[in-house]
Amino acid sequence: MDELRYRKDLFEGTAEYYDRFRPPYPDELIDDLRARVPLDATSRVLDLACGTGQIAFALAADVAEVLAVDQEAEMIELVAHKARRLGVANVHAIAATAEAVPLDGCFDLVSIGNAFHRLDRDAVAGRLAAHISDGGCVALLWSGPPWLGEPPWHRVLDETLTQWRDALGARDRVPEGWEEAIDRDPHEQVLRRAGFTYEGMFEFSAVERWTVESLVGFTYSTSFLNRAVLGRQAAAFEEELRGQLLACRPDGVFEQELSFMFELARRVA
Ligand SMILES: C[S@@+](CC[C@H](N)C(=O)[O-])C[C@H]1O[C@@H](n2cnc3c(N)ncnc32)[C@H](O)[C@@H]1O
Repeated sequence: MDELRYRKDLFEGTAEYYDRFRPPYPDELIDDLRARVPLDATSRVLDLACGTGQIAFALAADVAEVLAVDQEAEMIELVAHKARRLGVANVHAIAATAEAVPLDGCFDLVSIGNAFHRLDRDAVAGRLAAHISDGGCVALLWSGPPWLGEPPWHRVLDETLTQWRDALGARDRVPEGWEEAIDRDPHEQVLRRAGFTYEGMFEFSAVERWTVESLVGFTYSTSFLNRAVLGRQAAAFEEELRGQLLACRPDGVFEQELSFMFELARRVA
């Protein structure tokens, strides 16, 4: 498939919001991942498109080293700062693209959280095949967004974000037809093409109790309607969203069963 191209600065200004407002991957998911991949105190993990390091920090205590790579310098600065603040010496943050980051030696796990669709998938999967130890894995982690669900506030959130994104001319931050393109050539197929054995998709859920503040914060962590997109319209956006959400739920509590999953593919010699 022709890979969809995303701009390289889509997450500018999002790092603090990302770190604070993105719900973490649940412990059950991280435990299950650890149980399926041969990780021990000698292991090396590569966390590609690491963002603020949700996966990197969750795995760091179990392994020798985590290389956390992201193309946006702001994300990498936050990861490096967090590692210093928490005294985590084995997370090394590198500003580079997943397609071009220099890779030395082999990794036991390559994790890619909420990002594989943004990458040149064939190029990345192809180069990883040469840098994963025998029996080692690629894990694609995913989490559902707050606008998916039955209760009316999900639809109100979705419609409000879509209207603001369109009004601000930010539609092109998500390439047209990306979901159809992935349906035509699923991640599983890309990983198999690169020589990996696909082991399946493992699903989890966790209850999130959102507030207006955390839903606004989540929005500011996205690539399509963050502070850089909203500019001076941010206050007006927040006021409208708050009004719309509280009209649905005057108590200001927006509970959701959030879905999380990971797809696992193994290198078998
Ligand atoms: C939605 S965030 C995911 C962050 C984190 N992995 C997680 O699971 O929450 C997507 C991240 O992918 C990064 N990214 C997108 N394309 C990239 C590429 N080609 N190379 C490296 N990083 C990339 C963005 O800068 C952003 O930090």
